[in-house]
Amino acid sequence: MKIRVNSMILILLSLVTALTFFQGPLSAEEPREVSLKEVYGSFFDVGSAVSPFLLHGENAGHISRHFNSLTAENCMKPAGIWRPDGNFNFQEADKIIHFAKANGMKVRGHTLVWHSQTPNEFFLDAAGKRLTKEALYLRMEDYFQKVMNHFGNDVWCWDVVNEVLADWGDGIYRTKSPWFEICGEDFIARAFKTAHKINPEAKLFLNDYGLINPQKRERAVKLLKKLLAEGVPVHGVGIQAHWNMNTFQAEELQKSIDAFSELGLDVQITELDLSVYPIRRPPMPGESQNSKSSENQKLEYSPEIAEKQAVKYEQIFDILRENTDKISSVTFWGISDRYSWLNYFPVRGRTDHPLLFDRQLQPKKAFYRVTAPPRYCPPVFSPN
Ligand code: GLA
Repeated sequence: MKIRVNSMILILLSLVTALTFFQGPLSAEEPREVSLKEVYGSFFDVGSAVSPFLLHGENAGHISRHFNSLTAENCMKPAGIWRPDGNFNFQEADKIIHFAKANGMKVRGHTLVWHSQTPNEFFLDAAGKRLTKEALYLRMEDYFQKVMNHFGNDVWCWDVVNEVLADWGDGIYRTKSPWFEICGEDFIARAFKTAHKINPEAKLFLNDYGLINPQKRERAVKLLKKLLAEGVPVHGVGIQAHWNMNTFQAEELQKSIDAFSELGLDVQITELDLSVYPIRRPPMPGESQNSKSSENQKLEYSPEIAEKQAVKYEQIFDILRENTDKISSVTFWGISDRYSWLNYFPVRGRTDHPLLFDRQLQPKKAFYRVTAPPRYCPPVFSPN
């Protein structure tokens, strides 16, 4: 009797083992216990934009599991740090540095010079009059010094200038900016030189959106060539990558990576997300941002949309993997769809689904697609 029970147990055990081993290869859609940084971390840094309130509980676990680089979504911008009374507020940004250190992560600095999210008073004197060029350069120097010295090498690279390029027309520069209005184009070179003088070890980036659009790429190349010819210490280009799944074109991304790296510059993807909505269009005359035009209707995140987005993400990561010698960092703009800025912009409350993780932090189809073998497996060399 005892022998029969033992052999029954053996048969059962073998059955379980056989079932475990013969369930066949995992398909691209099946959950796998991999993290983004395990898959891509040896090719480039894998980052996320975060705010300090996310650095707790399950969000913190998610962040440290998937990412090895952080960008402050808002609190390292002038509006987060600079106060009109001359005080500087590093409290929030320091929480990010602290979390990054505790988890062995790098931090990208974002951003020093920007026309947006910089208090209006930054450009005014005590009497409320616009600063002269010389006075604004003094303020720039003081701001850079306090900020860059505060973070030291805990921040290894900086978006020194953000969004200084024109979106249309023949000119290179965004002209509707207090920086440009007061200083003309010179403030760009000045910003890089000032940052380099303060921390010669920091890698310095020009960061912008629309950089895979041929005309804007052309403007960027013109400006970068000019800066490099003048010996301005610019080390890399940040391609923001706020893209749209209906219009993203992989070949344009490749062209931009080539164009910037041919100038000898490092390339980073700094703010990746992929909206599922039709391309934004500005409101028509008399229409508000929140109008009910077809582009503004809330979409249901159907399996078809999830599949289309997964295909686009796959194309993006195919290109990134083919260019690992040119790209040092890839940062997503947010940790999950729940916290994306695209839930509020360009239409408040229009729920978007632009990232690799859903509102419950669960991996989406696109996540499995970009992390599925053999995509990230090292090539197998035959002995001959
Ligand atoms: C730009 C900025 C970022 C952020 C995003 C939207 O791309 O560079 O700092 O504000 O817009 O959230």
